[in-house]
Amino acid sequence: MVKICCIGAGYVGGPTMAMIAYKCPDIQVVVVDISISRINAWNSDRLPIFEPGLDEVVKSCRDKNLFFSTEVESHVSDAEIVFVSVNTPTKTRGLGAGKAADLTYWESAARMIADVSKSDKIVVEKSTVPVKTAEAIEKILTHNSKGINFQILSNPEFLAEGTAIEDLTSPDRVLIGGRETPEGQKAVAALKAVYAKWVPEDRIITMNLWSAELSKLAANAFLAQRISSINAMSALCEATGADVSEVAYAIGKDSRIGSRFLNASVGFGGSCFQKDILNLVYICECNGLTEVANYWRQVVQINDYQKARFVNRLVASMFNTVSGKKIAILGFAFKKDTGDTRETPAIDVCHGLLGDKAQLSIYDPQVTEDQIRRDLTMNKFDWDHPQHLVPPSPTAKTNVSFTWDAYEATKGAHGVCILTEWDEFKSLDYQRIYDAMEKPAFIFDGRNVVNVEELRKIGFIVYSVGKPLDAWLKDLPAAV
Ligand code: NAI
Repeated sequence: MVKICCIGAGYVGGPTMAMIAYKCPDIQVVVVDISISRINAWNSDRLPIFEPGLDEVVKSCRDKNLFFSTEVESHVSDAEIVFVSVNTPTKTRGLGAGKAADLTYWESAARMIADVSKSDKIVVEKSTVPVKTAEAIEKILTHNSKGINFQILSNPEFLAEGTAIEDLTSPDRVLIGGRETPEGQKAVAALKAVYAKWVPEDRIITMNLWSAELSKLAANAFLAQRISSINAMSALCEATGADVSEVAYAIGKDSRIGSRFLNASVGFGGSCFQKDILNLVYICECNGLTEVANYWRQVVQINDYQKARFVNRLVASMFNTVSGKKIAILGFAFKKDTGDTRETPAIDVCHGLLGDKAQLSIYDPQVTEDQIRRDLTMNKFDWDHPQHLVPPSPTAKTNVSFTWDAYEATKGAHGVCILTEWDEFKSLDYQRIYDAMEKPAFIFDGRNVVNVEELRKIGFIVYSVGKPLDAWLKDLPAAV
């Protein structure tokens, strides 16, 4: 039986390894992590992450050929293939702070692999890493190898949270990068054989290590750029009376552009886009490519602009102050169908409103009060470190409250912000919400989920990103 071990039981390590175990009953998969609470959760009825379909996959093979353990060293030592799927946060200090990837966790995993290995291994980069990381990892492994042969492969993960199980079941492509030596190609073939158990061969792409590493950063940069492009257009739509959904529909019909990923919103979030673009910017700068770095940096800047613009719209509409006013926040996760809040635009919007002394009442169907409290008090970039290193939940912010019900959150509110596109927000009883709110009652839809005309008929003053403005907002300043 082939033995696989994955270091890092997070949003990537957990689901990807569960899928390998599910599709390959003849392979033993052990996912290890230094976080005891995370491993305990993977072994319990309540998995540490919410992802549609994940429960079924995990429960069908857990304790058969899928195991979760904190005994990192012994399982790494036993494995033939070791995936590394640990955090690669943005550096907060020293050279490249605020941009470069912090490879502390990766390096410590590599050193541990070298220390405990007694047999040859294929080491697979699953984390998103800067180009040429494999070279550094190779050096760490070979200089500590005691004669053991390590082959490094790059196998970046393209799953999207919220659709991870679908994406893993039927990926657009699986990318495997390896050295162009006979040993490197043998390792590529071994990993390809694992995926080939369920992924059609023409979707398994092999290439050199550096292309594979860069492809992941490039893919995220292109995806985020599309969102920033439509969001930039949304500001112009508001200024001119055009409707961003109509513009997106029209341009999406062009087969060269395509219709997906063209929804205007309050901004993108998630653990990867900003981090990976900043990392790309840093790599460009290190290679003397200032113009290229500036080009990609602008994608992040437009995202920040969009979040600030949303807050400004809200405050300007409400007589230029939200001090002491109750604002309901519907949705805190960075997108629907996940409980993940890393880099969610809700954090910046809430900070903006709290800065103006608003009273926030927050509801998200999947995010806990404890998580939101951490997010609202944590320093930028601190979230992307192993859970046990993140400070415990801080004392409550007095002007933030939490509910497990959208109606409770909006009761007595002056304004409602929709910050995640949860399906349930489309079908709320908005008449009931309106009746229980202070008047004039405002809705600021950061995800374009509500029916603007219907809500206006009820009596709401509605702002929906990139849509023709309510008469109320027309003459108010909007830009940052
Ligand atoms: P995560 O934070 O959910 O999981 C990482 C895990 O690694 C944590 O549980 C942490 O305790 C563990 N860990 C850190 N150092 C360790 C060590 N030395 N030994 C054992 N365990 C260790 O992060 P996530 O989201 O799974 O991301 C992992 C990597 O995958 C990152 O590089 C990320 O950029 C990349 N990625 C993430 C995607 C996503 O949708 N979240 C998609 C594609 C790639």
